[in-house]
Amino acid sequence: MYERVVRPTLFRIGRGDAENAHETTLRWLARTGRSRTATRALAAAARARVDAPRTVFGVRFPSPLGLAAGMDKDGRALAAWPALGFGFVEVGTVTARAQPGNERPRLFRLPESVAVINRMGFNNAGASALAARLDAIGPLAVPLGISIGKSKVTPMADAVGDYVASVRALRGHGDYLAVNVSSPNTPGLRTLQDAAVLADLLGALQGELAGAKPLLVKIAPDLSDEAISELLEVCVAHDVAGVIATNTTLRRDGLAPADAVLAGEAGGLSGRPLADRAREVVAFVHKQTGGRLPIIGVGGIATADDALRLLDAGASLLQLYTGLIFRGPALVREINRGLPAEQA
Ligand SMILES: Cc1cc2nc3c(=O)[nH]c(=O)nc-3n(C[C@H](O)[C@H](O)[C@H](O)COP(=O)(O)O)c2cc1C
Repeated sequence: MYERVVRPTLFRIGRGDAENAHETTLRWLARTGRSRTATRALAAAARARVDAPRTVFGVRFPSPLGLAAGMDKDGRALAAWPALGFGFVEVGTVTARAQPGNERPRLFRLPESVAVINRMGFNNAGASALAARLDAIGPLAVPLGISIGKSKVTPMADAVGDYVASVRALRGHGDYLAVNVSSPNTPGLRTLQDAAVLADLLGALQGELAGAKPLLVKIAPDLSDEAISELLEVCVAHDVAGVIATNTTLRRDGLAPADAVLAGEAGGLSGRPLADRAREVVAFVHKQTGGRLPIIGVGGIATADDALRLLDAGASLLQLYTGLIFRGPALVREINRGLPAEQA
């Protein structure tokens, strides 16, 4: 149904600008989520089966498959995601200050490659607005992660204070916080992955959190093994609860010839061409930490097999975004059905 009817319609809506399709989808899911009857109907239509619970960093997840950050930045459709079968949702990335993001168009579909390039640039309503929305909504059906990034107007030298302000606004909400230091679309952001700088940032954030929430770090797929090793040492030294691997890539390998014209668009590439590298990073993190640091594996999951391979590589939890654009809720259903039964 999604691939035959919904996707062609959405792609037509988004012909001039793919973001139009995104906005239509989110608006529709937000509206659906406001009615309990409509949400139940959505769950029935999606035939979601969620019965592979896991407890990771002290949080119980009804399914290890979550919605990745960036799809629902401001938490507008929070009731709808569990109805589609997601076992958790990561909202954000939000920043201390509301910001419009980059100029449109800033989202490009590469259908032959089952991929997307985006340079959204953290368009979001701000950390306080998200806190207010979460207050109004009350408890959710599944665990919630909140991704935090740096406001564009804040100079890199003041980055720590900017992240701290977001944590202060949001530390009473969600089940974990994710520090996004890996988006390629905020100038300088990825330099926060350097060990010394990251140590300062994590020290300040853990100080602010005072154990209130698990803190995770989301990393780029473009780091060298050496840089990842150093980063992991800092994470472990600062009691980070887990690593999210990976964000989008600046590389352009593995694109279909038909998508070559869009390869030159600035931004991060996600979807199928990212799958191998994401799995490699997950396996590397798993090996380097002796399996002791939980990993959320994300990048290019387009089939149930992709999901299983990321779990085999050492991920405890999974997320996806781009696969949903191309395959719709059937992908979530297919993955949930293929998951091994209960672990720990
Ligand atoms: C349009 C778009 C916006 C995104 N925005 C964010 C974001 O705000 N924060 C973040 O941590 N990751 C963001 N991501 C990255 C995804 O969360 C994910 O790490 C990446 O897309 C790889 O997974 P996928 O191949 O399943 O999409 C975004 C991805 C896309 C496609």
